[in-house]
Amino acid sequence: MQSSNEPKLKITILGAGGRLGAALAREYAATHEVVGFSHAQLDLAELDALRSTLAPLPFDVLINAAALTNVDYCEDHRDEAFRLNAEAPRVLAEVCREKGSRFIHISTDYVFDGAKRTPYTEEDPAEPISLYGESKRVGEIQVLDANERALVIRVSWVFGPDRPSFVDAILKKARTEKEVVAVADKFSTPTYTPDIAAMLRPLLGQGAIGGILHLANGGECSWQEYAQWALDCCHRFGVPMEAKTVGAVSLGEMQNFIARRPVYTVLGTEKYARLTGAFPRHWHEAVADYVRDHYR
Ligand SMILES: NC(=O)c1ccc[n+]([C@@H]2O[C@H](COP(=O)([O-])OP(=O)(O)OC[C@H]3O[C@@H](n4cnc5c(N)ncnc54)[C@H](OP(=O)(O)O)[C@@H]3O)[C@@H](O)[C@H]2O)c1
Repeated sequence: MQSSNEPKLKITILGAGGRLGAALAREYAATHEVVGFSHAQLDLAELDALRSTLAPLPFDVLINAAALTNVDYCEDHRDEAFRLNAEAPRVLAEVCREKGSRFIHISTDYVFDGAKRTPYTEEDPAEPISLYGESKRVGEIQVLDANERALVIRVSWVFGPDRPSFVDAILKKARTEKEVVAVADKFSTPTYTPDIAAMLRPLLGQGAIGGILHLANGGECSWQEYAQWALDCCHRFGVPMEAKTVGAVSLGEMQNFIARRPVYTVLGTEKYARLTGAFPRHWHEAVADYVRDHYR
């Protein structure tokens, strides 16, 4: 929640029809003045229109949660991926620099190659292994080149009520089928959209830091462990499910994946804790809340 001495900000959010953007718009509307743009209202691909629409708007903060997020589609659509995930964010960063507004840009754990086995820090080299990751990494660089006070927030495995994600697909299947499987050799941290909104809240103001910052719930797991925990929560809260356990498959067995996926992309949040004194809660708690509040 907003603290009593937190000033009311004018916040503009791009990607307000998406999983994260919709949650940010809803959470911040309670305490700030929020204007959201969906894809239909403002197209990132139209760079001149982006500039001419946003430059006259009276916002203190612009949050870009819009992106081309389909990892496999990006692999086959390089130009579109770079236009939306790298060039458009640069334009947004420039507009904010010129206006003296804060710019917060959402990025991804997929900027890493996944070779580490301990959480990635903001200082670790980002060496993407997919076109999606590459386009997002170039976006980060261009944003910070254009506007050194911009804040680039990397998040991982985002889930929430505004658009289905991996966990919803698994639970949908588990409702009617006894056998469900998920990848057991790929690791990161599920991160709940209202938790991202809460973590980001103290960093919305102009005085807060710029640069790159990781935001994620605590702990780590494989997709299989994530799915099993969500299923266990359903059973605990009395949500009817046919499946009881989630079987294991390997990443290599996922024949329908086009892009390469990094196998380990846990984002360390020590920098966030140092800056704010706050520690993200464990993903177990976040998933349990989601199941209780949106499936029961
Ligand atoms: N989902 C994850 O697990 C995850 C993990 C790490 C990082 N992230 C990052 O988190 C951010 C938010 O992702 P999300 O999970 O909320 O994904 P999402 O639900 O796909 O949201 C992306 C939003 O961008 C919009 N968009 C796409 N093309 C656009 C265009 N040309 N012009 C304007 N808007 C456009 C989409 O609108 P339409 O759907 O109507 O096209 C959608 O509202 C992204 O930067 C993503 O890279 C996500």
